[in-house]
Amino acid sequence: MVRRFIKTAIGFLFIGLAIGGWLLVRREFAGDVASSYETSAHTHALFVGFVMMMILGVALWLFPRPAQGDVRYSPAAINVAYWFLTLGTAGRIGGELARVQWSGPMLRIGIVACGAAQIIGISIFFLTMWTRIRALGSQTRERQGERF
Ligand code: HEM
Repeated sequence: MVRRFIKTAIGFLFIGLAIGGWLLVRREFAGDVASSYETSAHTHALFVGFVMMMILGVALWLFPRPAQGDVRYSPAAINVAYWFLTLGTAGRIGGELARVQWSGPMLRIGIVACGAAQIIGISIFFLTMWTRIRALGSQTRERQGERF
């Protein structure tokens, strides 16, 4: 799951860079400045797709394993969060790029639905991770007399 988050993040990085490269070439050689939809597709690919997914993947790897009897943490819920965030982000990037040409209600509803999927995915991730965010190592060292 950690590798899946991180490799998906790298995929979004290259999608974001490709969109940026395309926008730059168009702006400089065709005088066609990026629309707010295209800039949004570029920045969400990079900041949500790459930065956020990389952070979530590293958090999954970094934080202590769930404590015995922890009923909140669930790998299945993390999997659901992954799909909400990945499909939401991918759909939003595609939808916002298409939005330059089309403005039909289905496309606009789809973009909002994808944004909602991003919110739901990130929320599920942190709700299920909440109990894993604990100071395991430093608690043990404090018991041994160290102070932080
Ligand atoms: C991790 C790398 C990058 C990050 C975090 C990033 C971030 C951003 C942000 C925040 C904006 C919005 C700026 C604004 O309008 O206020 C933007 C716009 C843009 N970026 Fe990037 N970017 C990255 C890489 C690139 C690359 C590699 C290219 C091109 C080779 C590029 C080309 C552009 C273009 C053309 C715009 C639109 C500027 C305009 O409004 O004319 N970006 N980027």
